[in-house]
Amino acid sequence: MTVSSAMITSLFRMKAILLAGGKGTRLRPLTLHTPKPIVPILERPFLHYQLDLLKHVPEIDEVILSLNYQPRRIEEIFGDGSESGMSIRYVVEPAPLGTAGAVRYAGESLHDSIVVFNGDVLTNIDLAAVIARHRERRAKATIVLTPVENPSAYGLVETDEDGNIRRFLEKPKPEEITCDTINAGIYVLEPDTFDRIPKDTPWSIERSFFPSLIERRETFIAVIHRGYWIDIGTPEKYLQVHRDIMEQRYRTPPFDGEANRPYVSRKAKVDEGVMLEGPCFIDDGAVVKAGARIGRYSVIGRQCHVEERAVIDQAVVWSGTRIGAEAEVRRSVLGRQCHVGRNAVVDAGVILGDKSTITDYSRV
Ligand code: GDD
Ligand code: MG
Repeated sequence: MTVSSAMITSLFRMKAILLAGGKGTRLRPLTLHTPKPIVPILERPFLHYQLDLLKHVPEIDEVILSLNYQPRRIEEIFGDGSESGMSIRYVVEPAPLGTAGAVRYAGESLHDSIVVFNGDVLTNIDLAAVIARHRERRAKATIVLTPVENPSAYGLVETDEDGNIRRFLEKPKPEEITCDTINAGIYVLEPDTFDRIPKDTPWSIERSFFPSLIERRETFIAVIHRGYWIDIGTPEKYLQVHRDIMEQRYRTPPFDGEANRPYVSRKAKVDEGVMLEGPCFIDDGAVVKAGARIGRYSVIGRQCHVEERAVIDQAVVWSGTRIGAEAEVRRSVLGRQCHVGRNAVVDAGVILGDKSTITDYSRV
């Protein structure tokens, strides 16, 4: 008998759990009204990019969104998933259970291997290859590692030459850094290991569950990813991801074609005599007046107004914000429906929450 690939995939139906319940504190005030999983990247809610990746993994037939903070806002966007081409289910914790507690709570009734994703990482990883490796090694847990320059904000992971994990140390101190590979926040787990996770107290996958696998000498392996990877959870990284997409380090529309071109929606109104420096992004309904300059890596959200001779440079501006004449906005993130007055200067790492007002001639 010949076994078709359709038959093989139908034998291995898997669920993916996206951990998307954190409060996004490092992105405040942006996340006060917009939970981190739906923070816009080029005006598109972040989780769409993760769903794009999961959709192309034939083994995965359902995504479970594990939520806690402002769950309704997220459910409204993704619904049952039909528009994203995936079946989506929501599990809302009564109180935050930590990363391991959330996995147990969402994966309680599951018996087959589960893919788990931190809800704030963007990557072009070959997930099917990670799943294959997990099966080949009959692992209890497989985690994806990626090399970074400074592991201190992540989970440091040491492996041996066969890819077995020897040590997992969350948020290492400088003197504890022994290698450059960190936990990329992508796992394949076997649900028969979940009984060690307590049901009613918060428990961390990084600080408790992974170390327990090492202590018990269970098969716990790593797959190293050297392609694109970023955690979007800080303002610096949030700006960085826009730059990476515009420079095609991570390929996604509308920047997956010709390099360095400004993207202007057909539904935007950009006057003649506006200076556009590619790559930049101007979305539907935005209005940019004559003499304004939209510099590289800038994002002008839907229905924004940029008045005469204003300058926007390497800044991300969410929808409905108005920038007055001759104002300057550089290397900053502006939330929805802000107002920057005329001749005001907003520079270098300013993060404005929704509906902020900067009065005329102010400097921040
Ligand atoms: N449902 C639920 N419940 N989700 C949670 C909870 C919870 O109690 N706590 C955190 N999360 C979600 C967050 O929304 C986020 O998507 C993910 O779990 C990871 O939490 P972060 O707060 O972003 O953690 P981190 O970035 O400091 O560190 C984690 O990610 C790094 C890679 O980006 C760790 O897993 C590190 O080991 C890892 O290197
Ligand atoms: Mg994170």
